[in-house]
Amino acid sequence: ASTLGAAAAEKGRYFGTAVAANHLGESAYANTLNTEFNSVTPENEMKWDAVEPSRGSFSYGSADQIVNHAQSRGMKVRGHTLVWHSQLPGWVGSLGAADLRTAMNNHITQVMTHWKGKIHSWDVVNEAFQDGSSGARRSSPFQDKLGNGFIEEAFRTARAADPAAKLCYNDYNTDGVNAKSNAVYNMVRDFKARGVPIDCVGFQSHFNSASPVPSDYQANLQRFADLGVDVQITELDIEGSGSAQATSYSNVVKACLAVTRCTGVTVWGVTDKYSWRASGTPLLFDGNYNKKPAYTAVLTAL
Ligand code: XIL
Repeated sequence: ASTLGAAAAEKGRYFGTAVAANHLGESAYANTLNTEFNSVTPENEMKWDAVEPSRGSFSYGSADQIVNHAQSRGMKVRGHTLVWHSQLPGWVGSLGAADLRTAMNNHITQVMTHWKGKIHSWDVVNEAFQDGSSGARRSSPFQDKLGNGFIEEAFRTARAADPAAKLCYNDYNTDGVNAKSNAVYNMVRDFKARGVPIDCVGFQSHFNSASPVPSDYQANLQRFADLGVDVQITELDIEGSGSAQATSYSNVVKACLAVTRCTGVTVWGVTDKYSWRASGTPLLFDGNYNKKPAYTAVLTAL
C-alpha cells in the first residue's frame, strides 16, 4: 500500500494522527490528513476545558468538526480525554469531594453520550501516575479528594455511558519497563482480576534524546497485552531528524506489529510546523508537508 492508513489496514491496524480543528481549512493539512491517515484524535478539542468550560454547560462544536470530518471520510476517532489533571477548568478543582464525584461522572456520561457509537477508543483517564521511582498516584483534584478509587469509578461510569467504546488508560513515560509502568501494570492487573471494565492501555510515546525509544518497548507492550487488554501507541512523536529519527520510528512501528494486541499507532500531529513540541521536528511530514525519511521508514515497516 502507498499510504500509512492503507498499509496499516493491511496489517489489521489503524494509523492515526492528532488533529486540530482550526487547521482543517488549510488545504495541504486536510489533504495530507485525508490521504495518509485512517484514525484521528482531537488534539485539544475533547478536553474538559474545551467541552465543559463551566459546570453543566457543554460545548462540542470544535470537536464535532473533527468527528464529522473523520466520519464522512471513513476514518476512526479516538476520544481524548475524559479525566485528566491538566486542561481542567478551575471550577472542577474548587468542588468538594461529593460534588466533584458527581461532576466527574456527569462529565463522562454527557461527553460519551454525545459521541456514542462514533468513538472507537476513549482515553478515560490520562496521566494519573507520578514520574520517578515511587509508583505513586499523581496529585490532582480527583486523586486528592476522591482517592485511588476515582480511576475505577471513571471506568465503570464510562462503560455504562457507551458500552461499545474501548476504554483506555493512557500515560507517558510508561513506554518501557520502569517503576511508573509497573504501577500502571499492577492497576490494570487488579482491574482485570476484579472485573473493573478496562479494554486498552495507551502508550503516549513522546520520545527525544533524553527519553529515547526504550529497548524493552515491545516487551513492555507485550506484558500489558498479556493481561488481556489491547495496547495502542497514542501520541507518538520523536524529536530529531534524518536517519536516526527514521530508525526510531521504524522500531516503534515494528514493535506494535509484533504484538498481536497492538491495534494501532497515532502520531501527535500531521506536520512539524504545528507540533506541540516547539523545539524540533518530531513528526512524519515537514513544515511544507513533504514526506521525511521517518515517513518512508514507517511506510516500509508497516
Ligand atoms: C498537548 C497538545 O498537543 C497541546 O496543543 C496542548 O497545548 C497541551 O496538550 N499528553 C497528552 C496530550 O495526553 O493531550 C498533550 O497534548 C500532550 C501530552
